[in-house]
Amino acid sequence: MQAPESESAPLKNIEEWDDFVATRYRPGKTQEEFRNYQADANPTVTEFYRQNHAHQTLDFVLAKKREFGGLAREKKSIWEMGEFLNTLVDESDPDTDLTQIEHLLQTSEAIRRDGHPRWFVLAGFVHDLGKVLCLWGEPQWAVVGDTFPVGCAWSDQIVFPEFFAANPDSRVPEYQTVYGVYEPNCGLDNVHLSWGHDEYLYTVTRDYLPEPAQYILRYHSFYPAHKHGAYGHLMNNHDERMFDWVRKFNPYDLYSKGTERPDFRELKPYYEDLVAEFFPDRIAW
Ligand SMILES: [Fe+2]
Ligand SMILES: [Fe+2]
Repeated sequence: MQAPESESAPLKNIEEWDDFVATRYRPGKTQEEFRNYQADANPTVTEFYRQNHAHQTLDFVLAKKREFGGLAREKKSIWEMGEFLNTLVDESDPDTDLTQIEHLLQTSEAIRRDGHPRWFVLAGFVHDLGKVLCLWGEPQWAVVGDTFPVGCAWSDQIVFPEFFAANPDSRVPEYQTVYGVYEPNCGLDNVHLSWGHDEYLYTVTRDYLPEPAQYILRYHSFYPAHKHGAYGHLMNNHDERMFDWVRKFNPYDLYSKGTERPDFRELKPYYEDLVAEFFPDRIAW
């Protein structure tokens, strides 16, 4: 399932979405300013959400899970994928914008500075590698964006909820009840979230990382839940406990930008050891 041909990629690069989220949750924002998040969204970000909310249906998510879930695309090391992801650069301002690996390193270095366990540092270092989906021709709205459950009613805690009116699932009554196709407190592992880089990277890395790291990778864009407490009726007690780690991770993802530009060459030996501690040479993507 590809983007309808008439729709172009609205964001000049996918970091524009990350920047919007960071602005939305800027520390010290008043409730008033926060509620007015639409004012922070430029027309391209708004168009991005329009597409995302219109196209992320339960059928779409199930199709993407079938397409990518078998991990039959290629075998590559974490490093090879990092280099591949780094080919995704912002052409409009290559001097000031960080490369993808620099964002990963700023995140992981901030985690390391705070003395967290090695698996947590590693989660920071790999957390956005799933954005390689973009390089395989996936539309922006199916790679980034705040994630949300599909197959049940959309929470009003999701940004731009009005755009769901254009989603075909809005006309499926079974998907429009609070629980939709799910059971109360069935656990997030039984819930399909909108498709993107989170679910994909979780699928790729799940066999190698401890469970809290899996939660961080899988749910770091699930802002309606980890920032706003929505969808507690689908989560179980184990999810609630694991979300402590997702919440602990979020500030490193949002606010480590703008710290010192990391020196990749100097840091590489540490990360080579760290990656080799958890991952085999090549993994299936
Ligand atoms: Fe991300
Ligand atoms: Fe990130």
